[in-house]
Amino acid sequence: MKEIFMNTYARTGLVLDHGVGARVFSTEGKEYIDFMAGIGVSSLGHGHPKLVAAIAAQAAKMIHVSNYFMTEPSVKLATKLTEMAGYDNVFFCNSGAEANEGMFKLARKYGSLKHPDKNVIVTLRNSFHGRTITTVTATGQDKFHRFFGPFTPGFVYAEAEDIAGLDKLLGPNVCAFVFEPIQGEGGVRPLSAAYLKADEKMCRERDILFCADEVQSGVGRTGAFLACERLGVRPDVTAVAKGLAGGVPIGAILARGAAADVLQPGDHGTTFGGGPLAAAAALVVLGELTSPGFLAEIDAKGKHLMSHVDSFAHPLVKDVRGMGLMIGIGIKNIDPHEVVDAARARGLLVLTAGEDTVRLLPPLVITMKDIDEGVAILKLALDDVQNAHKQEL
Ligand SMILES: Cc1ncc(COP(=O)(O)O)c(C=O)c1O
Repeated sequence: MKEIFMNTYARTGLVLDHGVGARVFSTEGKEYIDFMAGIGVSSLGHGHPKLVAAIAAQAAKMIHVSNYFMTEPSVKLATKLTEMAGYDNVFFCNSGAEANEGMFKLARKYGSLKHPDKNVIVTLRNSFHGRTITTVTATGQDKFHRFFGPFTPGFVYAEAEDIAGLDKLLGPNVCAFVFEPIQGEGGVRPLSAAYLKADEKMCRERDILFCADEVQSGVGRTGAFLACERLGVRPDVTAVAKGLAGGVPIGAILARGAAADVLQPGDHGTTFGGGPLAAAAALVVLGELTSPGFLAEIDAKGKHLMSHVDSFAHPLVKDVRGMGLMIGIGIKNIDPHEVVDAARARGLLVLTAGEDTVRLLPPLVITMKDIDEGVAILKLALDDVQNAHKQEL
C-alpha cells in the first residue's frame, strides 16, 4: 500500500475498521484500547451515539453551505463556543494549521495598523504549530525545517521559561507572542503559570497580542475548556481544532477585545470552514463537555492514570507529566517508538512526542476500567522493551 500513498507516514500496516468508546478493532478482528484518539481528536471516542445521530441527521438535511450564508448549526456553535471559551467572536476553518495561519494573519494586520514594521511573531523553541510553510516556520524545531526553506520572514524563537530572554525579544516590531500552554508534539511539556503570567503582562504593556495555540490542549483535553484557564492567563486570540468536532475536520480562531475587530470583509476566508456538518458534530461535543461533572472527571481520570503509571516506578520511566488527559511519560535510554510498538503488539495504542516521550491522549469519555486495563498493558509493554534490552541496560 506504500506505493499508492506518498510515503509521509511511518505507517504500521494495521488497518483499523471500527470502534466503540475507547476501543478500536482492526479488519482482522483484533481489539485495541485507544490511548491516542486519532491524535487527540476523537474526544467522544468511537461510535458515540449522539455524535453519530447528529452527523447523520445533518448530512440528510444539508452537508455544505458556502460562507456567503449562515446555517443554524454554525450560528449555534459560534454562540456556544465563544460563551464557553470567554471570547467575543470566532472564525471557523478546517484544521489546526489553518487556525494558526489565520491567527498569524490577524496578528500581522493588528500590528501593521499600529506601525508598518510591527509584524514579527515570537514563538517558542520546541513548539509545534503545523505543517504549512508558515506554521512550519513558526514551529521552533529544526527537524521540521529541513528541506522546506525559504521560510516566511518575521518569525523569531524564544526559549520557554526564560522571562528575561523573552523580555529582550519583545521589541516594538513584534505584533504577537504565540505559545502552546502545554507543548504537545514537542514532548508534553506544560509551561508554568508564573512564566505565562509574566509573558502576558509584557505583551499587554507593549501592545503585543498574546496568542495561544490550543489546537491540542483545548476543548476539554486538560480538564478545563482551555488549558490557559488552568494556568491563569487570558490570551487575546486562541486557536483550537483537533477534538472540537469529535473527528470531523474543524478549526477555530477565537478572539476578544481589539483582536476581535481586526479581520474585515476580504481579509480572510476558507471554502469549507464552519460548514453545518462539522458544526452539528461540534455542538454535540460541546454539549457533552458542559454536562455536569464532565470536565472535573477528565481531571480525575488524568490524575488516576498518571499516579497509576508513577506507582509502578518502572526502570524505563523517567517522569510522568501532563494535565488532564494530555499525558507524557519520559522514557530513559530507549527510543519511545519501541514502547509504542510493544504496546500495540499487546493491544494498546499510544503515541510518541519529542525525542524521549510516550504520549497518551485517550478519548475524553474513556472509562476508569479502560484506563486501568490500558495502563496494565503499558506496564507489560515497558517490561517487554526492558527485557529486549537486558544486555545493554
Ligand atoms: C499545538 C498544535 N498546533 C497545530 C497543529 C496542527 O494541526 P493540524 O494537523 O490539524 O493542521 C497541531 C497538530 O498536532 C498541534 O498539536
